[in-house]
Amino acid sequence: MKIGLLGFGVVGRGVYDLTATRDDMKVAKVVCLEDVTLPDAEVTKNFQDVLCDDTIDTVVEAMGGLHPAYEFVRAAIEAGKHIVTSNKALVASFYDELIPLAKEKGVCFRCTAAVGGGIGWLSELERARRMQTIEKVGGIMNGTCNYILDSMTRLGLTYADALSQAQALGYAEANPTTDVEGIDTWHKVILSSNIAFGISLDTDTVPVAGISKIKASDVENFTAHGLVCKLISTGKCQDGKVSAYVQPTLVKQGEPESAVPANYNLITFVGAASGRMSFYGQGAGRYPTAYNVVQDCADVLAGKGFYSPYGEKVAAKNTDVLSYYVSGAADSWLKDNTQETWGDAIITKPVSVEEMHAWRKANPEAFIAAFAEN
Ligand code: HSE
Repeated sequence: MKIGLLGFGVVGRGVYDLTATRDDMKVAKVVCLEDVTLPDAEVTKNFQDVLCDDTIDTVVEAMGGLHPAYEFVRAAIEAGKHIVTSNKALVASFYDELIPLAKEKGVCFRCTAAVGGGIGWLSELERARRMQTIEKVGGIMNGTCNYILDSMTRLGLTYADALSQAQALGYAEANPTTDVEGIDTWHKVILSSNIAFGISLDTDTVPVAGISKIKASDVENFTAHGLVCKLISTGKCQDGKVSAYVQPTLVKQGEPESAVPANYNLITFVGAASGRMSFYGQGAGRYPTAYNVVQDCADVLAGKGFYSPYGEKVAAKNTDVLSYYVSGAADSWLKDNTQETWGDAIITKPVSVEEMHAWRKANPEAFIAAFAEN
């Protein structure tokens, strides 16, 4: 395999290092805007040097972002090159174009590192779904948010200090807003649901709430009540009805999710035959993520295409009813739906996920966290 590597940041550099000693694959060209010199790969600023090189059979996209990653990947598929990417924003946003196009052109398209960093989550989901109906996917899918929440809970760090550390360790996206507002997790649960349920989720119907408004006083409240806050994604398919959402969630101390430390992820599917299966590992960072990219390259060598057949567009209906912790806002809707108060914070009566997220959209300064379903 001759690889054209797009991007030489945290993940790209890791891919270069991990392939350096292999004899079944080689990074032949690297597209990178910085001035980098590599002993055994040509470095270019021009993507056309990869696209027009017929000896390059596989493009590894590790640039991140939507543009020009989309244009480059699309052109590479059109040119008959296999694609390996760690870019969940790209795959979730252009699912309806890229997945059918890859099939039409007969090229492999792998993106295991896009969800769970180094965890073999999508690759196992591929195997799981061919044997059984998958009823549920989700869990802790963002290393940066988990690092921040864990540092605030266990070490008493401020939100700002914990975020700076996560950035310094290379966990955060180029724009950390994507992590802390839950967008990264949103992309990951959409992609996981698409593969698990054989659909193409209408992204506009998947609500997301992030962690950026959490304060030390909220964390103190949770600890006092034996709860731990985690950013948790949910994708469910029951009786043909799909629901999907991302939100801070309060889990009881002692539950598996409550113990997940640092940049680790804990991702779960529930299958009709297998029941609950959970996957735990480093969800972010250079070598864990690059490890899964190189695994995908090996899968391409083995002729593996995408993880599931492309499925029809489906809108999520989020009628699940949950109680929520709310801080940092007060209005008549909240007053009417108050069940109890914890200091300045409010615990709501059970309300639908849809209703709660609609309220939060109108109150962006509020912090909300759902009580986990039993
Ligand atoms: N920024 C992401 C995270 C990287 O923190 O999980 C891995 O997708």
